[in-house]
Amino acid sequence: MKKVITYGTFDLFHQGHYNLLKRAKELGDYLIVGVTTEHFDEARGKINVVDSIIDRIENVKKTGFADMIIVEDHEGQKIEDIQKYGVDIFTVGSDWVGIFDYLNSFCKVVYLDRTPNISSTILRKNQFKIVRIGIVGTGRIAPRFVSESKYVSGLIIECAYNPVEDSARRFEKREKIKCYTESYNDFLECVDAVYIASPNETHYNYAKLAIDAGKHVLSEKPLSFTKRESEELYSEAKEKNVVLMEAVKAAYCPGFQQLINVAKSGKIGGIVDVEASFTRLADSNSRERKDGLYGGAFLEFGPSVLLPVIKLMGKDYGSVSFDSIYDDNGVDLYTKVNIRYPKGFATVKTGVGVKTEGQLVVSGTKGYIIAQSPWWLMRQFDVRYEDPSKIEHFEPRFQGDGLRYEISDFVSKINGTDKKDYKLTAGESVLMSEFVEMFMEKRKKGEDCESRNSVCKRNIG
Ligand code: CTP
Repeated sequence: MKKVITYGTFDLFHQGHYNLLKRAKELGDYLIVGVTTEHFDEARGKINVVDSIIDRIENVKKTGFADMIIVEDHEGQKIEDIQKYGVDIFTVGSDWVGIFDYLNSFCKVVYLDRTPNISSTILRKNQFKIVRIGIVGTGRIAPRFVSESKYVSGLIIECAYNPVEDSARRFEKREKIKCYTESYNDFLECVDAVYIASPNETHYNYAKLAIDAGKHVLSEKPLSFTKRESEELYSEAKEKNVVLMEAVKAAYCPGFQQLINVAKSGKIGGIVDVEASFTRLADSNSRERKDGLYGGAFLEFGPSVLLPVIKLMGKDYGSVSFDSIYDDNGVDLYTKVNIRYPKGFATVKTGVGVKTEGQLVVSGTKGYIIAQSPWWLMRQFDVRYEDPSKIEHFEPRFQGDGLRYEISDFVSKINGTDKKDYKLTAGESVLMSEFVEMFMEKRKKGEDCESRNSVCKRNIG
């Protein structure tokens, strides 16, 4: 019996896939089809696969050509499969000519002519209009957004906006992306969606104008400085039927979801304490260190460290107190926030002029989870117990610098393929703004505060 094997994603199953499987089967007596997992596709740079692996397997099955269907989930698996199943012929379409010649030492390699003018990529493009994204602000993070967006299909970075001429021109030259410097409205006219990466104090206004113009918004944190403003943005976005997301990167990284699920699974018992720290020693000439009104540690990193607290301890906190070390210009070099819950505590630390270990520790009644620095990338974490020899180690998938996950979720939401916002809900994002508001109020008055029962309460409405 001659055994043939072939592999593919088989997303949005089409005639090209059908022809390939038919001809693959004709090469022998028994056909094995390897269908790739999302994880494996992601590692290969295909991040917007539409059909689930179950649907993709089902579609291959329906053709009736496959005698066996397996799942391909890691690099190097092809050789393993060829040996394990005693395969005689490996085949794929002609778009891969040469790439799999190395398998010739294990079996015969046959490249079949590809069916012209059809591919999953073309279908994805036809099914969903390419989302034209405009970047507001051309500082440090904008080029990272551009390079990470290349790993997400279904979008194009159309243009950018920055009223600061110098920075705009530098960006335009380096990235070859047109940059508007005068009219924000002209810029908005050219795009379907905006990514706001401008200075903190401008996020709200840019977001509001974009939503008013019917554009989807992905805004860097903090979305706004008050609870009311964030509520207003979410409600306007709903009214206008556009997507609004706060870009708290960790929320969208696969590892973060996994950590939250592991913590909530009961593995470490009841969750009693969450400690998260995020510090970066900023240049003394940077905006974070110079701007006493809108710079500083908490505005820079507050939403990121609050994310695991809100996710794990919930929204109903009892009280919160802020402690900051200030520079002479009013910038908080280091801010520590203690939050009390009815059945637990949380502490978050942020710094632009003080360095701490950037870890996340979730303590429970049976054990604890530790995600080592930099925890916000969630490349790995451990579950540990009283018995120090018992450690469960997790290494979730993580590609690039992680921005691609939030970009991918943004595009999926715009296309309507992802309707749920459980990764960071509007309510959770609004709560972050409530904390930002308390902090701003306290900094303005130059005093520490206890909220919900003292000075901050008046201002959070
Ligand atoms: N294939 C083919 N003819 C096409 C498209 C795909 O013969 N028009 C073959 C590929 O060469 C591969 C198999 O079908 O052997 C599965 O390909 P897959 O990558 O899943 O499909 P594509 O349409 O090429 O997907 P994408 O556009 O995402 O690369």
